[in-house]
Amino acid sequence: MSKKEALQRLHERNHDICTCELKKTATHPVFGEGNPESEIVFIGEAPGKREDLESKPFVGSSGKFLTEMLTTIDMKREDVYITNTVKYRPPDNRDPLPEEKEECKDWLYEELRYIKPALIVFLGRHAMNTFFPDLKISDIHGKLIEKTFTDFPDTTHFLALYHPAAALYNGSMRETLIKDFKKIPKILQKIKTAKI
Ligand code: URA
Repeated sequence: MSKKEALQRLHERNHDICTCELKKTATHPVFGEGNPESEIVFIGEAPGKREDLESKPFVGSSGKFLTEMLTTIDMKREDVYITNTVKYRPPDNRDPLPEEKEECKDWLYEELRYIKPALIVFLGRHAMNTFFPDLKISDIHGKLIEKTFTDFPDTTHFLALYHPAAALYNGSMRETLIKDFKKIPKILQKIKTAKI
């Protein structure tokens, strides 16, 4: 079985057993997607309307912006792995509730244990606060964070960025996000060099 097929099975199994309330109102589940060998995993908040209809993460306007930013660092969507803290769209695009994030957490941990990325990039404060509840994105964006989690011990480096949807129409936040995003290649290099 290829790594892609194994990941697909991981998602299907978790979808079958998931008891999250959001599953009842979503049109489709939105599984993580991309290269299972990726050095980077991007974690967003929750699927929106378009993602719910197409059953794919980040395919709406924030996804377009994310793809554009990937191009600026010579990467394509297919090179990386993109997922969300919850796999079902919250009704009316409200924020996912803490208990909903908790329900989907083991699923996310399983993805991370499977991929073992060198770097996890949080897209927005919701994704960051799932792992670092006490940090403020305005203080920490663009700075490398190091921590070991027992649930996925192979990944110890994290970077929090503003969410593309929040930055899309906010000039200064957009500039900051683009600037922070461009740090990714150097950060990756630094992590890899430190591991040698
Ligand atoms: N915003 C997110 O956080 N995730 C998506 O998949 C789409 C938009």
